[in-house]
Amino acid sequence: PVSKIPLSRYDQKTFIDYAVLDRNLSIIRSRLDRPLTYAEKVLYSHIDNPEEVDIRRGSSYVKVRPARVACQDATGSMALIQFMSAGIDTVAVPTSVHCDHQIVAKDGREEDIRMSNEVNGEVYDFMRSACARYGIGFWKPGAGIIHQTVLENYAFPGGLMIGTDSHTPNAGGLGMAAIGVGGADAVDVMAGLAWEIKAPKIIGVHLTGSLSGWASPKDVILKLAGELTVKGGTGSIIEYFGPGVKSLSCTGMATISNMGAETGATTSVFPYTNQMGSYLDATGRSHIRQASESRADSLVADPGAEYDRVINIDLSSLEPFVNGPSTPDRATPNSKFKALVEQNPWPRELSAALIGSCTNSSFQDMSRAANLTRQALGAGLKPKAPLLLSPGSEQTRLTLEEAGVLETFGEAGATVLANACGPCCGSWNRTDVTNGTSNSVVSSYNRNFVGRLDANPATSIFLTSPEMVMVKAFAGRIDFDPTTDSITTPDGKEFKFEPPTSDILPENGFQNADYVYTPPPSARSDVSVDINPASTRLQRLSPFAPWNCEDFINMPILIKVEGKCTTDHITPSGKWFAWRGHLENISNNTLIGATNAFNQSINSVKNAFTNTYSTVPDTAREYKARNQDWVIITDWNYGEGSSREHAALQPRYLNGKAIIAKSFARIHESNLKKQGMLALTFADEADYDRIEEDDRISLVGLKDLAPGRQVTMVVKKENGDEWRVGLNHTFNGEQIEYFKAGSALNLMALMKKV
Ligand code: F3S
Repeated sequence: PVSKIPLSRYDQKTFIDYAVLDRNLSIIRSRLDRPLTYAEKVLYSHIDNPEEVDIRRGSSYVKVRPARVACQDATGSMALIQFMSAGIDTVAVPTSVHCDHQIVAKDGREEDIRMSNEVNGEVYDFMRSACARYGIGFWKPGAGIIHQTVLENYAFPGGLMIGTDSHTPNAGGLGMAAIGVGGADAVDVMAGLAWEIKAPKIIGVHLTGSLSGWASPKDVILKLAGELTVKGGTGSIIEYFGPGVKSLSCTGMATISNMGAETGATTSVFPYTNQMGSYLDATGRSHIRQASESRADSLVADPGAEYDRVINIDLSSLEPFVNGPSTPDRATPNSKFKALVEQNPWPRELSAALIGSCTNSSFQDMSRAANLTRQALGAGLKPKAPLLLSPGSEQTRLTLEEAGVLETFGEAGATVLANACGPCCGSWNRTDVTNGTSNSVVSSYNRNFVGRLDANPATSIFLTSPEMVMVKAFAGRIDFDPTTDSITTPDGKEFKFEPPTSDILPENGFQNADYVYTPPPSARSDVSVDINPASTRLQRLSPFAPWNCEDFINMPILIKVEGKCTTDHITPSGKWFAWRGHLENISNNTLIGATNAFNQSINSVKNAFTNTYSTVPDTAREYKARNQDWVIITDWNYGEGSSREHAALQPRYLNGKAIIAKSFARIHESNLKKQGMLALTFADEADYDRIEEDDRISLVGLKDLAPGRQVTMVVKKENGDEWRVGLNHTFNGEQIEYFKAGSALNLMALMKKV
């Protein structure tokens, strides 16, 4: 077998050392003495201390050494600011930064990139210079969406990486365990520390048959999201196996892995297949194909490997799904969607159709959508709703242009946006629908939380495959079913779509687009990285105060959150991207989207000192000015959605001390701990209901905070009555030290001094 190859085309001096991975795995294998799943093989071969580690799926913690780190720009600026404050000269692990979130979609690719360079120039310049200074690869605005760039250039079978974006698992389509993390976790790895994670459970998805007709890879994950719900994957890796796997294209598997994030899963992985090999060839990485095929046994599950749960999906009988609105797990087969639309108030008329994004912008996706477009154009039809297209990368955009695919979309009047997130992350200057106007949008993206795309809470967002988006765009209706419905053409005939066909990969491989990448210079010590102290966009971080060794007494409740509270509710995107590198300014959006359980209002909470109602950020700032600690009480799956650590940094900055939840989403819980916050859960969820608006919360006995030991909460009523209960937590020894030091970064600085 091949033992060492360069990590990527851009990292010729760093190698994938298969000998080390194989050695680690053989130590773990002999200790566990049981067959391993593929996800286990990938994760355990990257374990830091294989001789001593205690591996119990779902309970013990393991430390791993990822092969690389990727940061997008909306979380990357804060990650770089944190890395700078760690005082280290060079990243210890190959790292890349991708400018994809801040390009606002409006007029089309060139104009939108020009505008973004003008508006965000200060932030891009900072990131470009910080990358050059610390040895990081820089992908400029318009280069592509982080996950597509990673798939095309950096992902490899059997590898482990982390990324500061929740859809990092996209690389699972190429057999990589790619995990979304907060910036503080990324900084640890960039600084050379091992990264800690609770040993995940493994959910096996057994695929049989093969896709045909209208079904696409997207429908696998749309269906699975319906089965698992937005919480069902929490604490688990989703591993696909079975004879159906080999029928899926590599980019199709990436789509499935990408959107696995919507189930709360740690990541998703596929075992090595020939389709991965073909994709590696087409993207100029045949040497990785050869290396992978020479160690094929390491890249599949062992016979007899056991999963914590198995879900069966027969690809042959799969049909297209439409998920939404408001939550990605509301899954409806397209054949039943018409009836659902009739029972609901969602406008049937389509107001916009969006394809592409990190989820569905592959050569195959776009070519299948173009095939349908050609069918409809041939019948004299035009889309009845604005059609927006977000290519995933410059490499794929160029290739699609060369193949004539973009020309087809142009004939249909589509707007080709920048190779960037655009509407998918709320960077959409939408002018055709006014805020508050009820309307329906279909997209091939991965998220549909209220307000996600256009900041309009009255927009109903439906997720589906690019193929379904395209046919619905021509029909102008969200409930169009191409298997039964037809469209009347201008000459009065009835037109019916045929199921789409296309090549999986470009016949002559992908075009070269290296001009969008800037490697770090070889001489870096004189590169200066400036942050203007007067900047409103960037701000150096001041360390949070360490814990003062005292209990938290009589804290007011900033807000008792009711219902869904994603990171978009805690710190919205869109226009707020501008302040992602400036903690003080971004804090002005803290929890402005969350519903207050006490008055059912959004962004209106009672100030415990003035007894008046004000916005959440204003109230928190007032408490901070009084040096008053406070808590948040919250419902299920708090912090679901993105990896943005601002959702933890902001409450911490504003003097929050603890979040007491029915449950947490994994990345957010970890982000809270990293920033020195107490992430606590109700042992009895009914206690959530007992908490009232004027209650004061004390957390006592914190000196005895220890793994597995409950924290005591004392709730004092307005009339002086008290009740007390134990709260659960998942802090391990090291995470307790973060809390005591004030943050993980503080602890790192302390350790450096020692
Ligand atoms: Fe961008 Fe994909 Fe997230 S397009 S916003 S990385 S979901």
